[in-house]
Amino acid sequence: MKTGLLYEGKAKKVYQACGEPGKLVLSYKDDATAMNGEKKATFVGKGRLNNEISSRIFTYLRAKGAETHFIKRLNETEQLVYRTEMIPLEVVVRNMAAGNIAKRLGIEDATAFDPPIVEFYYKNDELGDPFINDEHALFLTNVTPAELQEMKNKALKMNDLLRELFSKVEVILVDFKLEFGRNAEAQIVLSDEISPDTCRLWDKTTQDKLDKDVFRQGTGDLLKVYEDILKRLERII
Ligand code: TMP
Repeated sequence: MKTGLLYEGKAKKVYQACGEPGKLVLSYKDDATAMNGEKKATFVGKGRLNNEISSRIFTYLRAKGAETHFIKRLNETEQLVYRTEMIPLEVVVRNMAAGNIAKRLGIEDATAFDPPIVEFYYKNDELGDPFINDEHALFLTNVTPAELQEMKNKALKMNDLLRELFSKVEVILVDFKLEFGRNAEAQIVLSDEISPDTCRLWDKTTQDKLDKDVFRQGTGDLLKVYEDILKRLERII
């Protein structure tokens, strides 16, 4: 199904799909990193959990009309996607204060943002993925002002869909990160993954953290909480 390794990131490997130049195989790794790679660990089974969770979420978003790179889950740790030209921006949507924004702006954790806040970060490991404004994004990438606005609109639309989804399984979507790419028709489509690695997910009743913060903060069992999220999603999608 796959041939040459094209790229290896912190959580995934990207391969060329065999005989299909317009398609890629994403292989989810068991590695976890935090603080821009300073903290590292391996959790056997994390790759399978994130592949299953992300595949279900992308299938749900596609059914709701969102354009994504996702084609299908291939096996426990791999999925087939359309090749996109990745835009080197991380688009973060925040419904409540946590993590970076709480620290940077001195906002108490769990303070609600209504309307939600959309932020851009420049994807660059050497620089530590700095927080940037719209003009920086236009200068640093080849996106047009209209495409930047389109990414914001799409991120907010995904936020509505994902909040609705997680709410059905008693989970609060605190914040999350998206990445976009251009497909063969030069349209901006959702790419990368959506998983407990890339979202903050809190139990609605207990506010327990069900995401990578348990690893970042060393406060819980990563595999147990990711399994919990998968089990909840399996009930509805
Ligand atoms: P932050 O509070 O650290 O900026 O994170 C905001 C959200 O984005 C959180 O759900 C985690 C996610 N995220 C990533 O997926 N990758 C990253 O590199 C960073 C910095 C955050």
